[in-house]
Amino acid sequence: MIITIDGPSGVGKSTVTKALAARLGFEFLDTGAMYRAVALAMQRSGVSLDDFAAVESALSGMRIEMPPGRVLLNGEDVTALIRSPEVSQGASKVAVIPAVRHFLAAEQRRIAEGRDIVCEGRDQGTFVFPNAERKFFLTADSRVRAERRANELKAKGQDVSVEQVLAEQTERDHRDAERDLAPMVPAQDAIPVDTTHLSIAEVIEQLESHIRR
Ligand code: DC
Repeated sequence: MIITIDGPSGVGKSTVTKALAARLGFEFLDTGAMYRAVALAMQRSGVSLDDFAAVESALSGMRIEMPPGRVLLNGEDVTALIRSPEVSQGASKVAVIPAVRHFLAAEQRRIAEGRDIVCEGRDQGTFVFPNAERKFFLTADSRVRAERRANELKAKGQDVSVEQVLAEQTERDHRDAERDLAPMVPAQDAIPVDTTHLSIAEVIEQLESHIRR
């Protein structure tokens, strides 16, 4: 059984996905981490993200593995490295490239094949798993999302202002929603959940009760 959770950054997708998967006894897949790994690989090899042909040819030498909670790029654990602001922007830039999307969508379908899994991202319920058994689309007020993200970063010792996070988030949201292939939009049969005034525990509760129903 495949459950998809899509939505913009800062809505709590990752936390909710992991907790929901644990409650259901399912596996989980963070597909944003895969775009991040591609962006890191391109940055390391000096490939310009505007050069779609160069990015496409660099994909052929790339192996991304997703053991639970970790990301391996050609065998190297890059789980922490892919969380920098540079990689966040890079991920949303490589995500507009159709060859990257087709490459990662194929990987995601291969990983999920025959499994009980919760997959989170931007296009899981629309492009990658249109026949998923349950689909959710999480939203939240953009300032609230930026505040959540700034607090997360503060907890990790990175002092960035809410305004700064909001500016980067707006740029990414725009790019994610406006691209031609598999833009970030709710699937027609996705259940919308506005998390602005909900705690993480309440969001998990809502999703779980939808699924058990
Ligand atoms: O969820 P995240 O912030 O880790 O995602 C990083 C970027 O990857 C995001 O800006 C858009 C892109 N992405 C995507 O295009 N499709 C997905 N299924 C997941 C992420």
